[in-house]
Amino acid sequence: MRFKHLPTINAKQTLIEVEGLASSATILHLTDAHLNETDIRKDKTIFMNSIKDYGFDALETRKQFETALTDANEKRYDFVVLTGDIINGATAGNLDYLETKLQELRSPYLYTLGNHDWEYPLQPWNEATRAEQYPKFNSFTNDSPAYQASLFNGINLLTIDNSTYQITKEQLHFTKKQLANGLPTLLFIHIPIYIPGLLPDVMKQWGAPIMMAAEGWDKSLQSQWKVAETTAETTAFYHLLLNNPHHNLIGIFCGHVHFAHTDAFGKGSYQYVTSPGFAGGYRLIHLLPKT
Ligand SMILES: [Fe+2]
Repeated sequence: MRFKHLPTINAKQTLIEVEGLASSATILHLTDAHLNETDIRKDKTIFMNSIKDYGFDALETRKQFETALTDANEKRYDFVVLTGDIINGATAGNLDYLETKLQELRSPYLYTLGNHDWEYPLQPWNEATRAEQYPKFNSFTNDSPAYQASLFNGINLLTIDNSTYQITKEQLHFTKKQLANGLPTLLFIHIPIYIPGLLPDVMKQWGAPIMMAAEGWDKSLQSQWKVAETTAETTAFYHLLLNNPHHNLIGIFCGHVHFAHTDAFGKGSYQYVTSPGFAGGYRLIHLLPKT
């Protein structure tokens, strides 16, 4: 398969030529809106125990999110993909708001979770809490919060929830199977895959290598961040993406670290980290037929 990543002059635009596309298309990638819409009528206890706002202004984050969705409708973008931390906690208020806003979208969309989507007051941040919170996201994820695939314009759009920094056996199996179908594929995840070239900026911003399969963790810092040792499945997933055995993984799109970054990755792929929605960030992925 032939595809080509073309250079662009700003981080909000990505241009990729793909052989065999019937027509050009634009996907809006949104990540890290960090919305706080807690409804005190429904969430009194939760409100009292507080979902942290992490310093994000609720009115501002809402304004940025609604502007992006309105733009998607007005410009008639073909698809929208949301890659996590769209809300801070699956409170009733946040979920109601999300449902209302996503229902207003004219285009199809995919949603994968970030570590803040499923956090919950008084609950520990771990896989058990994620599993408990997962059903709340069924309506946004086609009843499959852990992984999804959607065929769009001849391109396979995959989402994998890697928001615990790990990949499950089922997710690994799913990804292998999807890549083996040979279709041109875009992968959407929350946490960036470790790339040495991304490390300095991540360290500068966070003081810790908060990427999937990252190298260079200080052990006590790793435990503070609650990041477990990379599992065998996560390592296998990392090598699968890196080796790109069917030459059809075109790009990886993610967020989490709250700045934009572009890097070549593995055999022919690129990893695009998109700037956060709370600060007006987004990425338009333009797919063009390759002549
Ligand atoms: Fe975030």
